[in-house]
Amino acid sequence: MIIAIDGTLASGKGTIARRLADIYGLPHLDTGLLYRAVGMQALDQDIALDNATKLAAAAGTIKAETLNRPELRSPQAAEAASKVAVIPAVRDALFQLQRSFAQQPGGAILDGRDIGSVICPDADIKLWIDAAIEVRARRRMLDFADQGNSVGLPTMIAGLEDRDKRDRNRSQAPMVKAADAILIDTSSLSIDAAVDKARSIIERKFPAKP
Ligand code: C5P
Repeated sequence: MIIAIDGTLASGKGTIARRLADIYGLPHLDTGLLYRAVGMQALDQDIALDNATKLAAAAGTIKAETLNRPELRSPQAAEAASKVAVIPAVRDALFQLQRSFAQQPGGAILDGRDIGSVICPDADIKLWIDAAIEVRARRRMLDFADQGNSVGLPTMIAGLEDRDKRDRNRSQAPMVKAADAILIDTSSLSIDAAVDKARSIIERKFPAKP
């Protein structure tokens, strides 16, 4: 079973994906980490964030097994990721890794922006996770506070709008809800309630064994 989970930043898609992976015993790939890893290589090696040739070469060295570095969770990595993600050669260089991860025997869960639309258009289940911008911004502020950073609500909303815009408007694989993806709006849902909703969508199609 391949489960594709896409959606906006801080919508809860990553948490939902991890919880579903635990529940169904499926391997999980957070594809945002791939773009973050490319962004971090650019920052570490002083590669300009629009140098397609060098960034594509950097993307070609990324392995799914090396995505646990805590610095990939930093705001700097996120910002760099969103810039390198607009470069078609970077996306092309990361395509096969994601595709192979999805096609491993037994299936997988991938979360990102273009999983249901580009990486796994044939996924068994496609979810699109979203929430109101203010709710997402407040969640992000809590994440930042956990990392010792403080950002005001208007600044956070502006930052999210910027990244959403970049993701939606890029030429290749823009962030988009696949036509056959099912929306879960987490604006007023707890994480448990959102996971329950996802499970009921999955188990409607693949009834759980008693
Ligand atoms: O999900 P996360 O915030 O880690 O993603 C970081 C950035 O990577 C996103 O803002 C987006 O630009 C890019 N991304 C992407 N396609 C994916 C996953 C992430 O373009 N499948």
